[in-house]
Amino acid sequence: MSLPKRIVLIGPMGAGKSTIGRMLAREMGYRFLDTDRIIEERCGANIPWIFDVEGEEGFRQRETAMLEELAAEPETVLATGGGAVMRPENHALLKKHSVVVYLRTSIEQQVERTRKDRNRPLLQNDDPEGVLRTLFAVRDPLYTELADIIMHTDRKSPRLVVRQLVNRI
Ligand code: S3P
Repeated sequence: MSLPKRIVLIGPMGAGKSTIGRMLAREMGYRFLDTDRIIEERCGANIPWIFDVEGEEGFRQRETAMLEELAAEPETVLATGGGAVMRPENHALLKKHSVVVYLRTSIEQQVERTRKDRNRPLLQNDDPEGVLRTLFAVRDPLYTELADIIMHTDRKSPRLVVRQLVNRI
């Protein structure tokens, strides 16, 4: 079986897309890219700043532009932001020449892994857990629909997730 051109990781904040993506890329001899980090580099500002100044809509435009730019990148593991599935026009960009992996993660784990995080503007409020629940209710069906592989990450080390993924890709 030939290797896929790209592996695209989708899933909620705190799913481990960056950690697992970096390790998976190393394992496969692929390059690792992360849309959020490239957006920040290009913009010369962090995500909270972009949300503050340009609003979520401005950030989403940058995210779509980034997905367009990276749609044909060969031998790449691409970590995406948790909201990348929200724009219908992004769906074909995520799927193009790719194996799409949904890192499915419980709300409890999302809360645990995003606690004290200051770089996620959607969670800087009184009820981050409520926000994660609401987002999950909307987005889980989208992640599931887009995924070629659904990988559960709860109670697994990143190393185990990567090993299981390599066996399934
Ligand atoms: C977002 C998730 C973040 C980042 C931005 C918006 C979201 O990425 O893109 O803060 O809408 O869920 P991570 O999923 O990598 O935290």
